[in-house]
Amino acid sequence: MAPVEIHRAEEVMPEEAHHEHDALVPTYVWDLVVRITHWAIVLSMILLAITGIYIGNPWGSSSSGPAGAHFVMGWVRVLHFYGAIVFALAVLSRITWAFIGPRRSGWRQFVPTSRRRLRDMISTFQFYSLIRTKPPACKGHNPLAGFFYMLVFGLYLVMIVTGLALYSVDSFSHMRWFQWLLPLFHGAQGARLIHHVTMWLLIGFVVQHVYSAMLTARVEKNGTMDSMFSGYKFLPKDLPDDDE
Ligand code: HEM
Ligand code: HEM
Repeated sequence: MAPVEIHRAEEVMPEEAHHEHDALVPTYVWDLVVRITHWAIVLSMILLAITGIYIGNPWGSSSSGPAGAHFVMGWVRVLHFYGAIVFALAVLSRITWAFIGPRRSGWRQFVPTSRRRLRDMISTFQFYSLIRTKPPACKGHNPLAGFFYMLVFGLYLVMIVTGLALYSVDSFSHMRWFQWLLPLFHGAQGARLIHHVTMWLLIGFVVQHVYSAMLTARVEKNGTMDSMFSGYKFLPKDLPDDDE
């Protein structure tokens, strides 16, 4: 069998790609609200998933003695609820920002309304399906990613609403008000099931999200991964705004 030759990406890139690469300039794409809410959601979601999995299926709690001396489940639930407050505030802030913030962070990044965005959505799909070698250059989210983020925000809202319904069940505070949500899910058990299954959908999204962020950063060489920290991507100089 002939030996397989492995080339570095730079060696197989056509000549003009290097010129294109030279012309990239740092462009501010993610403002502070987008970055802070992104990382608040990431950190709170890690805490929520770990504590949530424990609430659903407690492990290592076969300790003896009075419950007050351990209170493990109590603390785990408290952590889950603090995480839930951060998560819900971050999600609602980001959704509000999509309507009152600058255009580049706006709802048009998620809903493909312009002809160009629809066309780029298809070519991005072709890139992921290995039909095209390069994805279309975009200032903000690529249109396919943006569309999926819209669905992901829908899942965030499902987590918040089912979480509030569950919280209302044995609450003694004004949070009891949310009990009107319970019939929507056929009771607490239905809410619990949806809350649990949606968590796994979100975990599935995160795996593919981090993979495609790494993939696009490597293929486009535009600093996508770092951009969620710094706010800047490296983009061609005269790239028009995404919804133009
Ligand atoms: C991405 C975010 C979240 C994840 C991954 C998550 C995960 C989970 C999981 C796995 C459970 C256990 C369900 C089971 O298997 O029985 C749970 C329970 C619960 N979650 Fe969440 N959750 C999230 C967000 C929230 C939010 C935003 C709220 C409140 C608004 C919330 C409130 C609750 C409540 C009240 C329970 C039931 C606690 C109990 O039965 O003692 N969660 N969560
Ligand atoms: C719990 C884990 C994560 C979740 C739920 C998540 C979710 C999201 C969402 C919803 C967006 C859209 C942001 C907006 O417009 O407000 C986004 C964008 C982005 N995230 Fe994450 N993320 C996670 C982890 C990460 C990690 C670990 C990285 C790695 C550095 C990362 C890098 C990015 C980048 C670079 C973008 C913008 C990419 C683009 O152009 O579409 N994310 N993420």
